Amino acid sequence: MAKKLNIGLIGYGFMGRAHSNAFLKANQFFDLEYEPVLKAACARNEDQLKSFADNWGWESTETDWRRLIERDDIDCIDIGSPNNTHKEIAIAAAEAGKMVLCEKPLSMDAAEGIAMTEAIEKAGVANMVWFNYRRVPAISLAKQLVDEGRLGRVFHYRALYLQDWTISPDLPQGGEGLWRLDAAIAGSGVTGDLLAHSIDTAIWLIGGVDKVSAATETFIKEREHQVTGKKQEVTIDDACMFLARFSNGALATFESTRYARGRKNYNTFEVNGEHGSIHFNLEDPHRLDYFDNRLDDHVHGWQSIHVTDMEHPYMDHYWVPGTTIGYEHTFVNAFADFLKSLEDGQDPVRPNFRDALETQHICDAVLKSAKTGAWENAKG
Ligand SMILES: NC(=O)c1ccc[n+]([C@@H]2O[C@H](COP(=O)([O-])OP(=O)(O)OC[C@H]3O[C@@H](n4cnc5c(N)ncnc54)[C@H](O)[C@@H]3O)[C@@H](O)[C@H]2O)c1
Repeated sequence: MAKKLNIGLIGYGFMGRAHSNAFLKANQFFDLEYEPVLKAACARNEDQLKSFADNWGWESTETDWRRLIERDDIDCIDIGSPNNTHKEIAIAAAEAGKMVLCEKPLSMDAAEGIAMTEAIEKAGVANMVWFNYRRVPAISLAKQLVDEGRLGRVFHYRALYLQDWTISPDLPQGGEGLWRLDAAIAGSGVTGDLLAHSIDTAIWLIGGVDKVSAATETFIKEREHQVTGKKQEVTIDDACMFLARFSNGALATFESTRYARGRKNYNTFEVNGEHGSIHFNLEDPHRLDYFDNRLDDHVHGWQSIHVTDMEHPYMDHYWVPGTTIGYEHTFVNAFADFLKSLEDGQDPVRPNFRDALETQHICDAVLKSAKTGAWENAKG
């Protein structure tokens, strides 16, 4: 008989859907002691919330997250609302003794992240931040290859995260669906929204960052606010590029923009090591390119590994070799790992709040460096 875990979800948008799907699917594909119950969904618009809850099978609704946290029948709070809400909700949930799942970026800035991480650790509650790309099977395989020493000493890390959806000057900023363009809600632009993912992947694969040197640009200086209709200054970074020095001596470049025509969710990285290299592109998510210099010279060449075999991370939970899974399964995999970690409590799931705080410190250092023009300490 599975142990029930009652979930209270906040936010019915993009992530509300991705998480609801993960809660429904995890136990169908993974053998787990715990089983989530979709107990209550929360957002402010009652009508839309109701139809969301009916569609995904949430048992009840709340329009105030404080009320959700007060409920005795909720074990775990899942934060899928915009970035400016994460801190208050996470701290209140931890203080109420609830487990906390939180969307990325952890917070608006590192100061908020510190307060959140301290509250979570003081309460001793299970926690995870949804940096779901760690659970793309090809990225998990990249981690395995690095940990197996197949790359040897790492010299370079190169990450790009490119999109093209904010190029029009007529696109408003702020409000439903467009809060990412409003720094008061998002904290930052592409740095927190996109590069946080790239940074989380990088520090997971090759370790921590010591220093960064960055440049940012805001290409469209004023946009109409979606709610007020007033023209306002745009205060997010539309594009960000930074250099990083890793603690292990590796040198890295990171670049992100929402002004790269034709790039939709072009999240790529390449790692160059002494014995080999790996390359990944999220727009072709089942492929991991691998160059092994230790093979005989006459067979040197890039291999394109189709990461769909039973031996590949997560894939034995799904279909037969050669068949694929999708974006949504990265959330299923993450949530299954979270439930698994509750079984004996010995091996807490990662990334947790402390890990996401490390990423937040790097984001803060990047934004600071873009202002000062100097190399900045990324350790916090
Ligand atoms: N892991 C990923 O790959 C990924 C992808 C997209 C978004 N995100 C993160 O997920 C979070 C949500 O992003 P999204 O794209 O789902 O946004 P969204 O705009 O699609 O949905 C946000 C939801 O939050 C609700 N909301 C806003 N303020 C609220 C409040 N005070 N109380 C209750 N509900 C409130 C909105 O009504 C909406 O339902 C953000 O932190 C974002 O950075 C992560």
